[in-house]
Amino acid sequence: MKRTLVKHALASETPMEEILVEGWVRTRRDSKTFSFLEVNDGTSLASIQVVADAGIPGYEDIAQMGTGASVSVQGRLVESPGKQRWEIQASGVRLVGNAPDTYPLQKKGHSPEFLRSIAHLRARTNLFGAVFRTRSRMAAAVHQFFLERDFVWIHTPIITASDCEGAGEMFHVTTLDPLADNKSYDKDFFGKAASLTVSGQLEGETMACALSNIYTFGPTFRAENSNTSRHAAEFWMIEPEMAFCDLEGDMDVAEAFVKHIVNTMLTDEGGDLDFFNKFVDKGLRARLEAVAQQPFVRCSYTEAIDIMQKSGEKFEFPPHWGMDMQSEHERFLTEKHFKCPVIVYNYPKEIKPFYMRLNDDGKTVTAMDVLVPGIGELIGGSQREERLEQLEANIERMGMDKTGYEWYCDLRRYGTVPHAGFGVGFERLIMFVTGIQNIRDVLPYPRTPRNCEF
Ligand code: 4AD
Ligand code: MG
Repeated sequence: MKRTLVKHALASETPMEEILVEGWVRTRRDSKTFSFLEVNDGTSLASIQVVADAGIPGYEDIAQMGTGASVSVQGRLVESPGKQRWEIQASGVRLVGNAPDTYPLQKKGHSPEFLRSIAHLRARTNLFGAVFRTRSRMAAAVHQFFLERDFVWIHTPIITASDCEGAGEMFHVTTLDPLADNKSYDKDFFGKAASLTVSGQLEGETMACALSNIYTFGPTFRAENSNTSRHAAEFWMIEPEMAFCDLEGDMDVAEAFVKHIVNTMLTDEGGDLDFFNKFVDKGLRARLEAVAQQPFVRCSYTEAIDIMQKSGEKFEFPPHWGMDMQSEHERFLTEKHFKCPVIVYNYPKEIKPFYMRLNDDGKTVTAMDVLVPGIGELIGGSQREERLEQLEANIERMGMDKTGYEWYCDLRRYGTVPHAGFGVGFERLIMFVTGIQNIRDVLPYPRTPRNCEF
């Protein structure tokens, strides 16, 4: 007999004479003549209730069908007198794998810290089941957004020889033993320095300057030693890149993208959003509804500094023109001042990477960051420097090794075009739509400084 997923059983239109469900027991309650099993298979937040009468085949093992055990249940799908519409009147139950008392998820209400230490089991809780289902649904929505708009999905390399952001936060890729003497790149696998990518942007630009609109969606790596709730050493990034596009066009796509993801979350029918709204962040649904409806504020960096200086707000780092914005500044702007998503643009050139287009003022570049309530920076992007001489001057000014970027400069030598793009941290997006406060709780296996368990 074919297995029915719990999600489909619960959504059935009619009773069923025969059904087979398989999953893990969340709870069991026994009376003299029958037992109730709550069975969850991870396809939905809700479990299905199984009524198993004493004496049915397999009932002799019922004592072992406790929390965490895996079971296979056959029976009839019938109207339930309880909260849910359907339950299963079992004709047989089978113990697939028992879970002794040492099963760490016996009781409810574990702390997120404890659950991180059992990342291999935490997906069996309501919270993490909902998180990982949401991650998958949002990933599909990312592809849907770009594919519907004629963007080509590009698989940029994970091992690279260039540092896109120029921040020197790269993990080296080498086959040399770090403890051995006489190390030299000559003896190394690639015969030169190689790293894990911090961004697929540079390679993405080459593709946009051929295919017009492209996006990447894959893992990126940063050896930033910032142990915050919003940074991970391994995270997924979405990077669209558009040829014949300027900063304003870039902002338009970023805003439409965020709204598309938020709207997808709002149309969730599986109960995960309700769950997050009830148990994680009671303001979540209202906040997402507001984001879906309001236009995002667009504010230049210079205006933003001015607003903060005049605000009377106490900042740990008092705002001044030329500074890199900290999380406290970003969150003040989006949460307290504008109370909606804000796109800050035209940042000082000194605090931004080499590839951003220099504005006519000679002081700022066409950068833009999308700041959202609850997160701060969700997106970073820019119009790119398409003028060869200016790009070469930037590379020079930043003291970068020119030879490694000849291929990148070729885009400006041969048929250069104005182009722009941005990067979205996928985990920050998931935090934004679930209300979850720590990036470690939206990654299946988070990697952070001094933490590479599993
Ligand atoms: O602002 P960033 O550094 O921009 C870039 O990498 C550009 N190459 C993007 C582009 O224009 N194509 O990173 C983009 C986004 C940030 O806004 C943030 O959401 C996320 O990536 N991000 C991180 N997320 C989690 N952990 C980290 N360590 C992150 N660093 C950046
Ligand atoms: Mg950034």
